[in-house]
Amino acid sequence: MLPTDPTWYKNAIFYEVYVRAFKDSNGDGHGDIHGLVEKLDYLKELGVDCLWLLPIYPSPLKDDGYDISDYCSIHPDYGSLEDFKRLLEETHRRGMRLITDLVMNHTSDAHPWFQAARSDRHSPYRDYYVWSNDDRQYSQARIIFLDTEKSNWTWDPLAGQYFWHRFYACQPDLNFDAPAVQAEMLRVVDFWLGFGVDGFRVDAVPYLFEREGTNCENLPETHAYLKTLRRFVEEKYPGRLLLCEANQWPQDVRAYFGEDDEFNMAFHFPLMPRVFMALKQGDRTPITWALEQTPPIPENCQWATFLRNHDELTLEMVSPEERQWMWAQYSPEMRMRLNLGIRRRLAPLLDNDRRKIELAYSLIFSLPGAPFLYYGDEIGMGDNIHLPDRNGVRTPMQWEDAPGAGFTSASVPYIPVIQADPYSAGSVNVAGQKADPASLWHSLRAMIALRKRYPALRSGELTWIPCPHPAVAAYLRRSNADQVAVIQNLSVKPVPVELPFENSSAELTDLITGHVVPVQNGRLKITLRPYEYLWLV
Ligand code: NOJ
Repeated sequence: MLPTDPTWYKNAIFYEVYVRAFKDSNGDGHGDIHGLVEKLDYLKELGVDCLWLLPIYPSPLKDDGYDISDYCSIHPDYGSLEDFKRLLEETHRRGMRLITDLVMNHTSDAHPWFQAARSDRHSPYRDYYVWSNDDRQYSQARIIFLDTEKSNWTWDPLAGQYFWHRFYACQPDLNFDAPAVQAEMLRVVDFWLGFGVDGFRVDAVPYLFEREGTNCENLPETHAYLKTLRRFVEEKYPGRLLLCEANQWPQDVRAYFGEDDEFNMAFHFPLMPRVFMALKQGDRTPITWALEQTPPIPENCQWATFLRNHDELTLEMVSPEERQWMWAQYSPEMRMRLNLGIRRRLAPLLDNDRRKIELAYSLIFSLPGAPFLYYGDEIGMGDNIHLPDRNGVRTPMQWEDAPGAGFTSASVPYIPVIQADPYSAGSVNVAGQKADPASLWHSLRAMIALRKRYPALRSGELTWIPCPHPAVAAYLRRSNADQVAVIQNLSVKPVPVELPFENSSAELTDLITGHVVPVQNGRLKITLRPYEYLWLV
């Protein structure tokens, strides 16, 4: 049964699934919906509460499905609407939820709307897109896909005009000034929520409207439309989730919560790279800085925290100097870089060092926010930087030490399974890690279970415990029911710490290892091992 709390998302553990990569049920080399259904028990066992599916709609796949050619159907590689219905039922039956990607900003150029628009100036669909006779308008809007796109305008010979696009030229932006477009998108939302999905991760939110003389991001018109969207959802489908993808500074993202009348959740983009910065510098300052910049949000809203996702590790939310530093530290080879980011997975970024990987998870599972896991990162999968674009972090899920990694029986999967050690499917796979109680998978599963058991870890107030040593990130999470002290050494060196504690004497137990740590005369004295983390009650 599904928990009925309408703010279920605040305490949920999310898991991002790329259906094509997850499990191929029919041996065609592509993951599919039936395959995902086969693996729902696995996700349940890990402790997942809500799945987020990357786009599953018909698409020419020039941007892996973020180029949609039909909003209300399923890509044939994945299955049918009926299969999707079954996936929803099976997910709900296990007490989990499922959200899908809602790509409102743009369609594929193969979408019938765009085809009609470009072929006939008088088509009612012409106004669905943004056209111009020259490419000089909105010149203050930055280019997002810097490595491939030279302009946000592309000439369409058939249309005899330029069209506007914030992403690939095959993804024309919809014109949200057109009332018909606004209405179409509500129809799409109605279709899927009526179908039973639990909400949406809404793609590329800041760019819906364009206005001359602005950078065309976060415009008041955009917020006004999002309020309409939220009202629609709230009235017809209460308890569903709207999650905002706005790669922006916290003050700008804050506006997307409104007065709890826009999004329920938003990704915390500035925190993510700072976890990696802090680990590399052995210094908590980037993390404390990001949290200090984070304004309070309405009671029923929540931040979505994450370490990695299906895109490059974006460095848009750092300063130019910090970006250069991050590139130098984390992407020594040029081919590891993409646009303003780094196209690598969690384990290779952290040198496949179990201590650092766990510590990174300790941070996002104990700081405020609802954590998102990226498929494969729970077992420390590697990447393939020889594949183009972001495909290197979208390789087949490694289920077992078998040809096709237990992902597919096809000899040629959609992209190759990782072959090279230490990340080959032989070395890194679910079956092996489940069988080994000392594996990363088990550590992560234990952390998830603890987060569910201790309300303080999910929703407690956060208070930093003063510690003179900058390598130590120590804080108290306190709820009405309980409190947990989280103490983490971000550095490669052992660090002796002496922390003040309220109780003058107590025995604290580390939830992770079961070890007991004494508090004496109101001080906790301990030497933290490199990258050690303690969750103390
Ligand atoms: C953000 C998505 O995460 C990314 O994968 C996609 O390419 C762009 N939006 C464009 O839809």
